[in-house]
Amino acid sequence: MGPKIISFINYKGGVAKTTSTYHVGCWLAYRKRQRVLLIDIDPQTNLTFLCAPVRKWEKRRRNIGTIATLYRRYIDQKPLDVKRYVWRQPIRLPDGDRHPRLDLIPCDVNLIGEDLGIGSLTGDFDSMKMLKKSASAFVRDRTFLARVIREVSDDYDYVLIDCPPNLYLMTHNALVASDHYIVTAIPDHLSTIGLSILGRKVDEIGATVEKAATLAGMSPDGCAVAKFGAILFVRVRIGGDMVTNAHADTMDSIRSRLRCFQTHTTELIGYTEAAANSVPVWFHQSDNARRARAKMEYPSVVDEMLEMF
Ligand SMILES: Nc1ncnc2c1ncn2[C@@H]1O[C@H](COP(=O)(O)OP(=O)(O)OP(=O)(O)O)[C@@H](O)[C@H]1O
Ligand SMILES: [Mg+2]
Repeated sequence: MGPKIISFINYKGGVAKTTSTYHVGCWLAYRKRQRVLLIDIDPQTNLTFLCAPVRKWEKRRRNIGTIATLYRRYIDQKPLDVKRYVWRQPIRLPDGDRHPRLDLIPCDVNLIGEDLGIGSLTGDFDSMKMLKKSASAFVRDRTFLARVIREVSDDYDYVLIDCPPNLYLMTHNALVASDHYIVTAIPDHLSTIGLSILGRKVDEIGATVEKAATLAGMSPDGCAVAKFGAILFVRVRIGGDMVTNAHADTMDSIRSRLRCFQTHTTELIGYTEAAANSVPVWFHQSDNARRARAKMEYPSVVDEMLEMF
């Protein structure tokens, strides 16, 4: 059996997609002893910088390459040789040891142009042949990440993909490559509206890829999009020790309609402090990080996830 593949998505920015991918991955590897591969497909490269300092990333990008290099190779139909691009155990713990069992395929800003997508199903097709050709290019552009993961699937128990804050080409790739997707959301009113739109959009993407596969004469099985996993509420504001009423009400209302994690993460500065030091919150030594760690939020999310999938 291959690894479980999970994408963290939301087209909204700043909703802890990256923080969640990172902490879930680190806890799975550290305490649950799973072999984890993180994949950064956001040209902002935040997940990569949570794993390694900029200086090391620059060197690696120059000497080896990133997911953007892999994507170029894929487009040019060269052998991918994915293992070469996997950064083995990039996280350094405060004692100098490497974080065990956790690898990364890093990103870089060069993915920006690629991320917008080339293929489109709209437009005039002057013949059936053109239509088929265009449909097969459309599918090919969306199965890059699935190909990448297939090459290393024996090496991991979990593959976690950190998506950019949009639903463009790379997010389509993540959805096609994944078994499930988790939506991170701040439980405020506007985000609630966004959640329904997001679910609909993912279904649309699934239908379009399936249609393209059929037109191209391919089996749509290999390009089905991920199933909805659950919503994870993040950055929930507390007053004293209480969740603020507005957030609590919104979470209750969404939980009555959609599958959500029972655990939420709290808005705590310790997460940001740990991020600045490129370690998960349980490895950072500051009072604020200790406060965040004591809540054991991401470890509980992982426990729920292990039950869920
Ligand atoms: N529970 C939390 N408490 C306080 N700050 C948090 C929490 N979770 C995340 N953050 C901070 O919020 C900011 C945004 O988080 P993050 O980068 O994970 O969001 P994102 O959804 O990946 O953003 P983007 O859409 O830009 O990729 C970061 O500075 C992060 O450290
Ligand atoms: Mg991010």
